[in-house]
Amino acid sequence: MAAYTWIDHTFDVVVLGAGGSGLRAALGCAQAGLKTACITKVFPTRSHTVAAQGGISAALGNMGEDKWQWHMFDTVKGSDWLGDQDAIEYLTKNAPAAVYELEHWGVPFSRTEEGKIYQRAFGGMTKNYGEAPIQRTCAAADRTGHAMLHTMYGQSLRHAVDFFIEYVALDLIMENGVCRGLTAWRLDDGSLHRFRAQTVVVATGGYGRAYLTCTGAHTQTGDGNAMVLRAGLPLQDMEFVQFHPTGIYGAGCLITEGARGEGGYLTNSNGERFMERYAPTVKDLAPRDMVSRAMTLEIREGRGVGERKDHIFLHLDHLDPKVLHERLPGISESAKIFAGVDVTRQPIPVLPTVHYNMGGIPTNYHGEVLTKQGNDPDSIVPGLMAVGEAACVSVHGANRLGSNSLIDLVVFGRAVGLRCAEKLTANASQRSLAKDAGEDHLARFDKFRNANGGTPTAVLRERMQRDMQNTCAVYRTGPVLQEGVDQMAKVWADAPDIHVTDRSLIWNTDLVETLEFDNLLAQAVVTVGGALNRTESRGAHAREDYPDRDDVNWMKHTLAWLDMTTGKARIDYRPVHSNTMTNEVEPIPPKKRVY
Ligand code: FUM
Repeated sequence: MAAYTWIDHTFDVVVLGAGGSGLRAALGCAQAGLKTACITKVFPTRSHTVAAQGGISAALGNMGEDKWQWHMFDTVKGSDWLGDQDAIEYLTKNAPAAVYELEHWGVPFSRTEEGKIYQRAFGGMTKNYGEAPIQRTCAAADRTGHAMLHTMYGQSLRHAVDFFIEYVALDLIMENGVCRGLTAWRLDDGSLHRFRAQTVVVATGGYGRAYLTCTGAHTQTGDGNAMVLRAGLPLQDMEFVQFHPTGIYGAGCLITEGARGEGGYLTNSNGERFMERYAPTVKDLAPRDMVSRAMTLEIREGRGVGERKDHIFLHLDHLDPKVLHERLPGISESAKIFAGVDVTRQPIPVLPTVHYNMGGIPTNYHGEVLTKQGNDPDSIVPGLMAVGEAACVSVHGANRLGSNSLIDLVVFGRAVGLRCAEKLTANASQRSLAKDAGEDHLARFDKFRNANGGTPTAVLRERMQRDMQNTCAVYRTGPVLQEGVDQMAKVWADAPDIHVTDRSLIWNTDLVETLEFDNLLAQAVVTVGGALNRTESRGAHAREDYPDRDDVNWMKHTLAWLDMTTGKARIDYRPVHSNTMTNEVEPIPPKKRVY
């Protein structure tokens, strides 16, 4: 192995990732007087939160009566009873304050006539426990994530968060089960860094790029999740992958659910508004898992649109152009650029597209990472926290409701800051790291840097992405999932033949993509493995061979560990928290989901 030299740093808290959850967590820690670093592989305002469109849910009641208890009910029902109800209570109760905090920091929300924050309808959000759709999603036109990210980056700078920008994280430094920091590679000068911290917060987002077509950025490779697997810790509920109903056909770019919230609707080749058959009460505003399944069935049964009858139309052409201009300017532009469609006159061709990972690093509602040790399913991993899409807290369970992601980022980002303020002492002295800390990280880095096999990274990555797309989709069956497991095993077996062309240390994107591919593959293995293992249908996991939800055997979280030598997943379980956090609200008993 080549000789590498570490540059060492010490912080109270190191946050990995500068999307919405990472920035909110870093900001909270810095506000509490903790010396806080935020490490990110892209410039903070390029993190994927920037692409979030439709809005952030909170029961503000600006458009009519609303209650956090209704929001909680919708979220538990949306999760198909896999969500932890204590965490969902925490989320929905703290949501209004989190939104007002953003408003006070400067997020330019759209406004009602009276000057209040504008709220739109979103899928699965209802009033009075499912009676009718409600307007609960607070919006800054259709660029809500963009507005939040820029505002929180400004606030983080104000509170002196120390940013390390364009640093690619390598791995967590673990000592006897305790997280002591992490290592990273700085792209612009090729230097290698060791960060020691009392607490590391993983906020690296989802891993949509394990699939061929997704609404996520190319950088969305779930690096933190893979680091957790390599640290010998489990990921939770990875089989639950959300398909957003309205990705642009062929391009995958997101057309916000806010489009249907503003009155848009879907049609099949008969011009029929088919969602009326599948969800008579809320129609096009059913949760995403149901809409994606309905669209898939329409296409399968020959009622898709277009020459190949392989997609669906989203109509906005009946809406007032003023509404489109004011509330949906971003997607009007995307439809023009990526589908060549003028939304004032033509429908947008759309298709369910991978959008979000309900699964991730198991945490409690303080953001502390959990593992199963002996009989304790909620054993805390000292020094390690996780938040945002990387985490599985689990408020989304088997299916996330649209606009519950942005609120998850800020409510639990804030919770992490509060927990760190409570548990940590600013500038407390920290033991030295072991002399060889990070040596194994360097070995992995050096192996890929000098990889001299016969298969370029892009070839292996595309194989993985195509196989995931084809085998672990909206509808699943045992034999096809088994094929997916076998294909991932083959990609794993072929990975030692990887070829990296660029050997340099400075802005080596070939090496970055190879490290990312390695991260994606680990997550793909546990995703398809978990999907094969779960023999029921729940939320986004729709097994045609097991069409019913099975609460007796399967109302439990999957935990998956990955053996890094063999590439084989080991599966165990944690119970769902069906208890609430306080006595202010009763647990919501499981029922069949009807909308
Ligand atoms: O459709 C959207 O605007 C996406 C929102 C979300 O995933 O929460």
